[in-house]
Amino acid sequence: MISARQLMLRYPTGKVALSGVTLDVGRGEFVYLTGESGAGKSSLLRCLYGGVRPTSGQLEVGGTDLRAARAGQVRKLRRSVGIIFQDHRLLFSRTVFENVALPLRVQRWKPDRLVARVRKVLAFVGLEDRLWSFPEALSGGEQQRVAIARAMSAHPPLILADEPTGNLDLDTARRIMDYLMELNRQGSTIIMATHDLQLMETHPGREIRLHAGALVGDAARREAGA
Ligand SMILES: Nc1ncnc2c1ncn2[C@@H]1O[C@H](COP(=O)(O)OP(=O)(O)OP(=O)(O)O)[C@@H](O)[C@H]1O
Ligand SMILES: [Mg+2]
Repeated sequence: MISARQLMLRYPTGKVALSGVTLDVGRGEFVYLTGESGAGKSSLLRCLYGGVRPTSGQLEVGGTDLRAARAGQVRKLRRSVGIIFQDHRLLFSRTVFENVALPLRVQRWKPDRLVARVRKVLAFVGLEDRLWSFPEALSGGEQQRVAIARAMSAHPPLILADEPTGNLDLDTARRIMDYLMELNRQGSTIIMATHDLQLMETHPGREIRLHAGALVGDAARREAGA
């Protein structure tokens, strides 16, 4: 699914956010991306969905060469990636329904299929009764669940999540993790940046650790208590 070789990213400011990152992620994996603030987690996720182009090295995601890709190819790749941002980035002028329907509209789903799919993913995150609410009227955890519903609505094979539980209490964070794990069981590859060691204990996965832009660890976490 993902193959990176000696990936380097230098921002226009001159800041080198990633250097010498080499890694492979296979289909169906659940990967945590960890490391101190400023380690390069968001920068790596940004590279993976084509938000920024790596400065040097090689990067292939879902068969697309992201260093050479033209804008059209990047747009096409993005349609197969579900992205959950830390600040969720919901459209506050649109209803929950419209937010979740967005990726499906981009893909021109037929109306009856689209409505059925939006209802289904909102039911999955327990918000089937909030279809016509505006995000403003939802709690932070509910907004984050809408963001997950939006990210999964078009059945993306790859889901990238940047600290999706960052601002949530432990119970809500655990629920969000349960949803992500379930999506993973259904076949989505998931890469999630997090600082939350507690969650990683209860929801084990492979951990890729960054430090100052470099990959410093890559290991599977054992089940809690194992
Ligand atoms: N758009 C940008 N332009 C210039 N420098 C940037 C940009 N975005 C991030 N950086 C810098 O690149 C480095 C890596 O940032 P990044 O956001 O990837 O870290 P992070 O691991 O996600 O941190 P956090 O845990 O705080 O979210 C930091 O030093 C940051 O200041
Ligand atoms: Mg970040």
